[in-house]
Amino acid sequence: MTTAYIVDLDPVTERYHRSTNASRRQLSIRDNGSGTMAGQGADCSVGIPIISEVFNKMLEVVKKDGPRGLTFSMTPNYHEFNDSYGLPWFNHYFLQEFIPSQPEIKARLESGIRMLDVGCGRGAAMKMLAQSFPNSHFVGLDIDQCNVDWAYKDVATLGLKNLEYVCADASAMPNDWTSTFDYVFFFNLLHDTPRPDLIIDDVKRVMKKDGIMSVIELYAESKHADNLGDPNASFIYTDSLFYCLPMSNNHPGSMALGAMWGKDSIKKFLEGKGFKVKAVSTLPMMPQLHFLSELM
Ligand SMILES: C[S@@+](CC[C@H](N)C(=O)[O-])C[C@H]1O[C@@H](n2cnc3c(N)ncnc32)[C@H](O)[C@@H]1O
Repeated sequence: MTTAYIVDLDPVTERYHRSTNASRRQLSIRDNGSGTMAGQGADCSVGIPIISEVFNKMLEVVKKDGPRGLTFSMTPNYHEFNDSYGLPWFNHYFLQEFIPSQPEIKARLESGIRMLDVGCGRGAAMKMLAQSFPNSHFVGLDIDQCNVDWAYKDVATLGLKNLEYVCADASAMPNDWTSTFDYVFFFNLLHDTPRPDLIIDDVKRVMKKDGIMSVIELYAESKHADNLGDPNASFIYTDSLFYCLPMSNNHPGSMALGAMWGKDSIKKFLEGKGFKVKAVSTLPMMPQLHFLSELM
């Protein structure tokens, strides 16, 4: 409501009030065309019905004595929505533009490494890389068995021997993975989970000392006032309110980050966990931030 100027935010006092001025305007996530979530396919026609599904559950969550948050199993159609957001980008820009724009990652993949996709969803990214970089071995990890089953569907048909999917909690990965991965990849996981700090701790265990890590999170500034007027922000705050925030707050001790924790907070978090952020960039044609990191 604030980023769309329906409610005003005073950046000095950080107080909110009803909009009275000419800056008020209609929210349309289609305004920005390509390069926005709408342009990439996370269309309102897909998103709004799926967000609406959890509306009644959210009414319980926001009660003082209600449940703390939602779990992935309470939001069965979320993965479909997630694919409607990410898949068009993976299909058109991941191999074509993102990988070529990252010479260090590309060179490692060509030479032959072990790569881990943490929170791989239905597994598209690993499948594309496995086909393009036959010298490397790819592991997709997800906590949801349905995603792992989905991801495996066409692996045999594609004849991919350098790819596996594993169902496990990223904060308690298999013991024999210690120091085995050269490259760890996150796409929109950290902000969705209650304890991203524990996940990063376990990633540090499974990563080789000279390994690298990509953390890809939604584009946002960490201060609410700095997101005003950005149509993507209006959409992502809404999505986050119904999914990412309640899912990242579902048990005591949760960090409850939500999708809009923003650039400065992400960098501070990674540095606080012992990573050096080598570069921060935006993804081609997608409102996402990429933090290329290595162990300090
Ligand atoms: C927003 S989705 C992103 C999926 C995928 N990376 C993509 O871009 O399409 C987050 C994924 O993380 C998984 N996930 C959440 N918590 C997890 C955990 N603790 N360990 C492993 N996977 C987890 C969810 O099941 C979900 O598939």
